[in-house]
Amino acid sequence: MSLGRPRRSCLAVPGSNVKMLTKAQGLPADQVFLDLEDAVAPLAKPMARKNIVAALCDGDWGDKTRVVRVNDLTTPWTYQDVIEIVEGAGPHLDCIMLPKVQSAAHIEWLDLTLTQLEKSLGLQVGRIGIEAQIENAAGLVNVDAIAAASPRVETIIFGPADFMASLNMKSLVVGALHPDYPGDPFHYILMRILMAARMHDKQAIDGPYLQIRDLAGFQEVAKRSAALGFDGKWVLHPDQIAAANEVYSPAQEDYDHAELILDAYEYYTSEEGGKLGAVMLGDEMIDEASRKMALVVAAKGRAAGMHRTQFFTPPPR
Ligand code: GLV
Ligand code: MG
Repeated sequence: MSLGRPRRSCLAVPGSNVKMLTKAQGLPADQVFLDLEDAVAPLAKPMARKNIVAALCDGDWGDKTRVVRVNDLTTPWTYQDVIEIVEGAGPHLDCIMLPKVQSAAHIEWLDLTLTQLEKSLGLQVGRIGIEAQIENAAGLVNVDAIAAASPRVETIIFGPADFMASLNMKSLVVGALHPDYPGDPFHYILMRILMAARMHDKQAIDGPYLQIRDLAGFQEVAKRSAALGFDGKWVLHPDQIAAANEVYSPAQEDYDHAELILDAYEYYTSEEGGKLGAVMLGDEMIDEASRKMALVVAAKGRAAGMHRTQFFTPPPR
């Protein structure tokens, strides 16, 4: 699995909020997404497009992944959002996020529109990626086809708030467990998204947690999707950034362990190490499957800039 750009923390910034568009540039989020959709009132959308173009062209976003969320394809705004953002700031943009994706046709529309724009503007065709938000039953049922609809798709994102509304869920606390349900009501949705993402080599991203003053609640929800294998989560407030960066990075102990497994396995499978397939590393037996698991954890740790604190030494011969 190739991880692509790190996206442990994906910071939402309303395009109508010029102060936040400036402040976000200095925050330690892996990704920012500048929003034209639900955080921007209909009457403010034309101005928000202009603010976003200016912030992308003139701002200093460092090595953050720069994404713009446009409006969904059931609205009258999507085509104008895409055209104005790419014409105004195409070279300064990494991805367009499309919300409420319901079928592969939505992604195909965006892919073709981006190709048209890139050709007419003299930009590299295919460079701008797509992030697909899954926010209702149709999106989830079609998620495999959505993930496969274009090589531009980089992430599949769970949109819990819209999803809860579309399912008639009996709760207003987004992403949280429900006292009447003896399990995690989001487990199936998260797993389904994860399967599609992994099948097509995309990142799986968890959506927002709206109780922004409840950091413990954010961590609890984030840990659940991180445990399944999700790559990151939306953050709505600066305080949530460090928590997301930590939760979606491996623990130091796990990162060290993964790097040790990789080194040990490389040594023991070599001529010098005895060409062995299954060997003991301390009290643990490791084989090819251990190497694959270790690769995932090591890749996440390296992408997060972690450093090893333990090294493998081959046994004396
Ligand atoms: C995000 O867009 C959500 O609906 O949760
Ligand atoms: Mg939504």
